[in-house]
Amino acid sequence: MDSSISELSQRLAEAKQSHLLQFWDELSPEERRELTVQLQGMDFKEINGFFRNAMEVSSSSKQEKMDARMEPVPREVLGSVTRDREHLAHWEQEGLNCISQSKVAVLLLAGGQGTRLGVSYPKGMYDVGLPSHKTLFQIQAERILKLQQLAEQKHNLKCYIPWYIMISGRTMASTKDFFSKHKYFGLDKDNVIFFQQGMLPAMDYEGKIILESKGKPSMAPDGNGGLYRALGNQGIVDDMERRGIQFIHVYCVDNILVKVADPAFVGFCVQKGADCGAKVVEKTNPTEAVGVVCKVDGLYQVVEYSEITLATAEKRSEDGRLVFNAGNVANHFFTLSFLRDIVQKYEPNLQHHVAQKKIPFVNVQGEVIQPDKPNGIKMEKFVFDIFQFAKTFVVYEVLREDEFAPLKNADRQDGKDTPTTARHALTSLHHRWVLNAGGHFIDENGRRVPAIPRDGAADSVKDDGNRNLKDGTDLPIKCEISPLVSYGGEGLEELVKGREFRPTLIIDQQGVHELVKNGV
Ligand code: UD1
Repeated sequence: MDSSISELSQRLAEAKQSHLLQFWDELSPEERRELTVQLQGMDFKEINGFFRNAMEVSSSSKQEKMDARMEPVPREVLGSVTRDREHLAHWEQEGLNCISQSKVAVLLLAGGQGTRLGVSYPKGMYDVGLPSHKTLFQIQAERILKLQQLAEQKHNLKCYIPWYIMISGRTMASTKDFFSKHKYFGLDKDNVIFFQQGMLPAMDYEGKIILESKGKPSMAPDGNGGLYRALGNQGIVDDMERRGIQFIHVYCVDNILVKVADPAFVGFCVQKGADCGAKVVEKTNPTEAVGVVCKVDGLYQVVEYSEITLATAEKRSEDGRLVFNAGNVANHFFTLSFLRDIVQKYEPNLQHHVAQKKIPFVNVQGEVIQPDKPNGIKMEKFVFDIFQFAKTFVVYEVLREDEFAPLKNADRQDGKDTPTTARHALTSLHHRWVLNAGGHFIDENGRRVPAIPRDGAADSVKDDGNRNLKDGTDLPIKCEISPLVSYGGEGLEELVKGREFRPTLIIDQQGVHELVKNGV
């Protein structure tokens, strides 16, 4: 072993992680080089500290009593697209005004691994099978383009919405290649800024870093709350400051309906003088897998569905609504000064959450074992763990059918949050946009399709997931409107008012077209 290795092995011994070199003699020169580089980049003292803290917090009795410490979001911090309809236009104008002055940036969290969806590439590259076959990245990029255009037209000012994209070691190369191959979907390359979040090793219950192969520790991204460390150490906060950004909309990659830089949400938060805000949808099903925004010990927080008992999740108020109904859709608003404080002061205090996992490992014989029960933990910070530091925190409630259809799981019969449900959510929103703008749909016999689908129609959809749905009255109407034509349903009257369409209807920059059956 040369001197750098003996130094490394000394550090490992001090951190009680010497087992990481146990197969050193069997590694090829290339494998040795890679392992050395990887281990040299790790701060074992810090990692061991993370492990101790995370285990302490996750096993403490505090966790069990979470339910008793929770309170719902008070009405005074809540803005709602349905209950505060009269203010909507005003909020939207405020947001558009900020956008037109290039004060608003969007930040996409795209460092996750998409394990549940079961694809080997980043989720944003997924094509849910829309007629256009646009990917999630493209849909989001086009919404940004359109919004820039709307703000420019309204205020007669050239503006940009910079798009910061957080990726991880796992998603870095493929995401960047994809954007470059697609010429940044028409956005200015200088306004698409990639930055990388950190990775942490998986640990066994004794705090030993797990080896996934003889020369490779098992690594995973450090959670979407890894954002705050990355914002600091990748110079992103400084970059935002240089560009004159004041407000940031942070969102997750998987929601096909996401209103990127939503002017109404931004405007609402700005008008309320908030430094931090969260968008929510009403949670109606107690077992739905979304976190709820609430107060815990008087501080705002998202409590994940796995952290509360069913009894608490099922509690209802007198009006029949769930008490904890502020379903987190992972869309957050931050001011830049708040983010700067977080990065400079609070980030180190954020605790890692512990996820117990089945983590493949090499045993002492050097065999790779796939465990059948959890054998270790992954540590993650969460993006919403900074709500507690907000001075003025607000919550903005939107309609699920307009804004929330996440892609989490692979297609299967009656599956939730799948490519099929995401596709149906988007086409049915666009269907409603056409109806609202005065257009109509007719079936193959020329009969008008009722505006409200037959009872249970959505449930009766049999989609085999092969993206070959036949159109019919009891299936969602196939209608896709390019974000380059309409950001949120605006500007469609002149295209559709008083006209009748046969699905599949496509509205894009080329115009309004009906696609013949099986032609998509
Ligand atoms: C997330 C929210 C949950 C909310 C739900 C709505 C968090 C921690 N939880 O849950 O409260 O109800 O969305 O759909 O936000 N990511 C990274 N780096 C990582 C891990 C994840 O950038 O290390 C990104 C993913 O790419 C994705 C987002 O964070 O865009 C959410 O991650 P995911 O693991 O899918 O969160 P959920 O459990 O679905």
